[in-house]
Amino acid sequence: MYVRTLRIQNLRCFEREKLELSHPGRERPDRADTIRHLPNVTLLLGDNGAGKTTVLRAIALGALAPVMATSSGYVPFSLVRRTKLRTAAQAKIEAGLQLEEHEGYHEEEVPQTLTLRPLSDFNDIIEEFDFPYPRNLRKRLYDERDPGYFLLGYSANRRVEPSRNVDESSRYKARSPKYLRVAGLFEENVTLMPLSVWLPQLRRREPTHFREVIELINGMLPEGARLLAKLQGDEYLFRIGGSDLPFPALSDGYRAHVGWISDMLYHLSRSCPPRRKLVDMRGVVLVDEIDLHFHPQWQRQVVPKIAQALPNLQFVFTTHSPIVTGTLSSANVRLVRERLGKNGISRSVIESPDEEMYGFSADQILTSNTFGLDSTRDSDFFGRLQSAAREARTGGPEAAIRYMRMVSAGAAAEEPTPPPSRRKVSPLRNKRTAARAASLSRKGTRKRS
Ligand SMILES: Nc1ncnc2c1ncn2[C@@H]1O[C@H](COP(=O)(O)OP(=O)(O)OP(=O)(O)O)[C@@H](O)[C@H]1O
Ligand SMILES: [Mg+2]
Repeated sequence: MYVRTLRIQNLRCFEREKLELSHPGRERPDRADTIRHLPNVTLLLGDNGAGKTTVLRAIALGALAPVMATSSGYVPFSLVRRTKLRTAAQAKIEAGLQLEEHEGYHEEEVPQTLTLRPLSDFNDIIEEFDFPYPRNLRKRLYDERDPGYFLLGYSANRRVEPSRNVDESSRYKARSPKYLRVAGLFEENVTLMPLSVWLPQLRRREPTHFREVIELINGMLPEGARLLAKLQGDEYLFRIGGSDLPFPALSDGYRAHVGWISDMLYHLSRSCPPRRKLVDMRGVVLVDEIDLHFHPQWQRQVVPKIAQALPNLQFVFTTHSPIVTGTLSSANVRLVRERLGKNGISRSVIESPDEEMYGFSADQILTSNTFGLDSTRDSDFFGRLQSAAREARTGGPEAAIRYMRMVSAGAAAEEPTPPPSRRKVSPLRNKRTAARAASLSRKGTRKRS
């Protein structure tokens, strides 16, 4: 399954918007080959509160509409649009789904809808949904082992459950497993599956998939880090910086990354038929704040590494990172922007960037129309820099030099500089110069004479 389009109406900050998503097999936009376009990635950018997480939730609600409405235990909260002027009567989400032959129904794009209405205060209720496919396919939506309708969602709160707390068999008893795969986007306390719980079982049950998991994780780790394929006690070890460490000993950045990619591979291995490769599985993966806790060096690689390792999955990421943004074509990017209306009420819109940013520096991206910053410098210092620029335009060379020093050296250049003084010349050098001058003048005198 892929989600090709998303239409939303009266959903939180949105009034009526449409989003076209990149997905494997979609035609490459007309861009030069030197620009890295990732056919399976959509990257959502936008200010805090613009609506990025809302878009991820809408994709999950639309694509899994029957599951969300019937067996999830999900209680919608503050989804229908409420402004100081009115509360909308209904919110509507329509996901244009592409189903595959193995899902029992091959169709380019079929819209599946879900509508919500306000119930009380900020509580909402799912009013209706449709399932526009043959009825006999419906049960597959609820079957965790079925490779179809594969959708995962990771919120910015993602964290891995300590292995001792996990009881894998009871995990899926109460609620639909396909809902639990996206539940983290809607609920605070949803945790991810630790490697040490499922990987040893996979090794016994499906050794080929086990080897593929190790290979895939290693392909998606930063350079210099490696998952070792052997257990020590109950834990798999990671070799990082010359130490072999279990998952709980890793830093926040590594745990944030390894945590969700190994949970993704857990779900892939649960749904992948024995003779198929994990890498051939199709489906949708939604990840909020992909750059969470990452050093800029890793931000430069993370999205291409993941997208290229699993080219048949469709990824929708959100980020605030200009470095992540510069790693892929702007054809992969969508901007979620708040627009303030004349009535003082804002609504969000979804747009495409107006320029190609692949290969831009972080500074260029932050000061482009996309991020719209006037400068990346501290705002107080930037104010002083602007007045130094004005002085440089009207003042003498000293003002120009001061401005240029501030541009290159920051506030350190604002320290008062000593007034230019006559250069002291060493007495020895003085003597040599005087002797040379005397000799030249003597030569000149001889010539003339
Ligand atoms: N019922 C509602 N009606 C109207 N607006 C709402 C409603 N509920 C929430 N909002 C607003 O919807 C916006 C969407 O927030 P969302 O969490 O999607 O933003 P975000 O882009 O993910 O921000 P961040 O980068 O901070 O995570 C917020 O500005 C919030 O104030
Ligand atoms: Mg968010």
